[in-house]
Order: sequence, then structure tokens, then C-alpha cells
Amino acid sequence: MTLQLGDEAPDFTADTTDGPISFREWKRGSWAVLFSHPRDFTPVCTTELGAVAALKPEFDRRGVKVIGLSVDALASHEDWAGDIEDVTGHRLNFPLIADPERAVAHLYGMIHPNADDTFTVRSVFVIGPDDRVKLTLTYPASTGRSFSEILRVVDSLQLTADHAVATPADWQDGDNVIIVPSVSDEDAHQRFAKGFVAPKPYLRITPQPTEA
Ligand code: BEZ
Repeated sequence: MTLQLGDEAPDFTADTTDGPISFREWKRGSWAVLFSHPRDFTPVCTTELGAVAALKPEFDRRGVKVIGLSVDALASHEDWAGDIEDVTGHRLNFPLIADPERAVAHLYGMIHPNADDTFTVRSVFVIGPDDRVKLTLTYPASTGRSFSEILRVVDSLQLTADHAVATPADWQDGDNVIIVPSVSDEDAHQRFAKGFVAPKPYLRITPQPTEA
């Protein structure tokens, strides 16, 4: 099954480094990032897990819960955690799902058989408070992800969930934003007190509404 944007994120139970969880119960209606990595005790994965641990306060600040997954067993995750801290200086501070039966991996389409029929690829799912999939990303095993890009996307998703705006290429929190096409100019003048400029009739730029 391919999970697409807007689909309900499937619920599951699994063993994790923080004990057994039921995904929905663990998530409790907050934003969540669920990501897979291919294997424990591999170099790129070690750097990725340390990077996520370092960024955990940034995910917390945005009300986003983070959870990782690979098809290795719990004892392996627990052993590897020591290496992650040795190498990156960051202790594992979020749960890692042990999925040796590949139950969650198959539920979320994290195994791409034509890339590797045994191990998960580098999948990312951002899931909203409504338990719907808001973003999917798939990277190959050979390419470590930019988790600051995932935070940037979360900033955009959270802003655009509450305001009739979209974010342009390479947007960063605090930058100007775009008024969505479904809002008329008349309505835009009412909604966006700081006004807007329109280099084209379909491209209307306004300061980020959440900025002072
Ligand atoms: C790694 O994390 O370094 C890795 C894992 C699987 C294949 C290639 C690299």
C-alpha cells in the first residue's frame, strides 16, 4: 500500500526503546514525525539518529513528537544507542521502534523491494494532529537526510494549517509568504492587515501573519 498525502496514518502497536507503544495513544493528537532508517550499526544511520537527538528540543518547541524505526530487534537498538552517543555526543532521546517482523514497515510502505527487499529505505512521514499524512519523503540508503529541512517543512505545515497562505521556495520561518489563490484581492485586504504586493495577479506576497 502507498500512503498518500491526506490519508489516515495507520495505527499500530510496537516495541520501542521507550517500551511498548500504541501509536495513536503515544501521539495523543499532536504532530508527529515517523521516520525509518535501513539498519542499526551503519554509518549514515548513526549520524542521522544523532542529528535527530540534537534537534529534539526544536521538535518539542513545535509540539512535534519524533519516532524512528528499523527492522532490527530491540536489543540491537539498545546496544547501538551507546555508539550513537559516542559518535555524535547525543543520547537517544526519542523512541526507536523495533520492527523485526516488518509489520509497521509494510503498513507504511517503508520497504521498496526494487531498492532493497530486506531493509527499510529512509522514509519520513509528517502526521498532523488529525492523524492524516501531511508530508512523505523517501531517500535512498546512501543519502542521509536533512532534519533541519523537516523542521522547515513543519514550520510551513503549521503556518499554512492556520492561515490562508503558502510558502515559497526555500522559505524560512519569518520570511514573507504567498496568499493562496482561492482568496480574492478584496478578502486579502481584510485578512492581511499588513497588505500585500502583487508582482503578478496570481502571486501576492505578504509578511508572515504570525510575525509581530
Ligand atoms: C548507512 O546507514 O550508512 C547505510 C545503511 C544501509 C546501506 C548503506 C548505508
